[in-house]
Amino acid sequence: MNGVDPVNEVTADRTFTVPKGRAARLLPALFRAVGFTAEQVVATLGATDPVDLVRNTGTYALLTDHLSDQLCRTPAGLLTQLFVRNAPVPADDYRTVLPEELRRALYCSGIVTGTADLVRGRFSVTPVASRYFLSDQLFAFDDAGDVELTDGVDVVLPPHASSMALLRYAAEAEPGGPLIDVGSGCGVLGVSLAARHRSLTALDVNPRAAHLSRVNAELNGVAARVLVEDVTTGGFPVPDGSLLLFNTPTTIRYADGGRSSAAMPPRRALESVVGLLPAGRGCHARLFLVVEVPRGVRSASDLVASWLTDVPVDRLDVREIRDSAAFVPAAMIPQGRVGPQCPLLRHGGDAPPLARHLRDREVHEVVPVTVSVSR
Ligand SMILES: C[S@@+](CC[C@H](N)C(=O)[O-])C[C@H]1O[C@@H](n2cnc3c(N)ncnc32)[C@H](O)[C@@H]1O
Repeated sequence: MNGVDPVNEVTADRTFTVPKGRAARLLPALFRAVGFTAEQVVATLGATDPVDLVRNTGTYALLTDHLSDQLCRTPAGLLTQLFVRNAPVPADDYRTVLPEELRRALYCSGIVTGTADLVRGRFSVTPVASRYFLSDQLFAFDDAGDVELTDGVDVVLPPHASSMALLRYAAEAEPGGPLIDVGSGCGVLGVSLAARHRSLTALDVNPRAAHLSRVNAELNGVAARVLVEDVTTGGFPVPDGSLLLFNTPTTIRYADGGRSSAAMPPRRALESVVGLLPAGRGCHARLFLVVEVPRGVRSASDLVASWLTDVPVDRLDVREIRDSAAFVPAAMIPQGRVGPQCPLLRHGGDAPPLARHLRDREVHEVVPVTVSVSR
């Protein structure tokens, strides 16, 4: 890149809509070399730990606006600014602070864009343990410093609290057999756990998610078969001894319609995954679901068990996660409240209509659960 202005280079190609896997493969080593790691991002943004960070990235991004100038003085800070805070950086800082090799890899992988004055990330980069995951930016700071929220049916979410919960739960499962990451999104579950399993297949109904799963597998040096598939249509062959994972889309239907086109009732998600498991072939599944518990039903665990009464399963384990941001306690619903960080909210002002909607439908509480099932 000698003699070439890297900012003009990043301006040159505006046609990328997805990152390019081959150049992105260089990024992890270059990120690590400048200290852009999960621990560094947690410490820089003042989060408690990596789970707290992914749960509240937007809040930490807002709270650390005063650090912008300081962040642009070190390579790790500048990458945090571009890819975690999703904020622009001055082109001069970009040129002088980041090593040339890293600028070239960022440019060639198509994940930055810029003008003569400002450079910005086109994707989020989430460090998880020693790996990195590209995804869409759920929010971004515009040039005036205001936050814009990204909306769209095919947005590929960064890893979030439910991803981390299912990741921990899946890591307790027996290693060895083929791993099938259903609804893979950016690929965080399958790519993180692939080394424990014989093979990895990632599938998602959203072609953009499938593409990002492929890029993130490549970026992290993991072999994966990636498919665009709808899990509800069945017919996907599951090899003996497989572990299926599904962090289901956490969507509550509002009175005015669905929150996202990926909406899927948890019962449907569970039945679809269990329906794929061939009986007696050592296959099992682990899922993260958000369950609306109607008045009169004792618990989320009882409700989930009732969904499988007609399906012969060997073992069913349901764990309620009451410290999740998606938990809506029974006491809050009549008061017209839900937690401010609840991922079921479409925006900040939605708590009263959501609580009202839950009350009108006689929902007693909303409980996130992890489910393990084998056949
Ligand atoms: C909550 S995200 C989970 C993403 C990622 N696995 C994670 O844990 O961060 C749910 C994913 O399921 C996908 N999905 C929704 N409906 C699906 C379906 N019918 N078949 C396959 N994937 C689906 C969505 O596109 C989305 O990527």
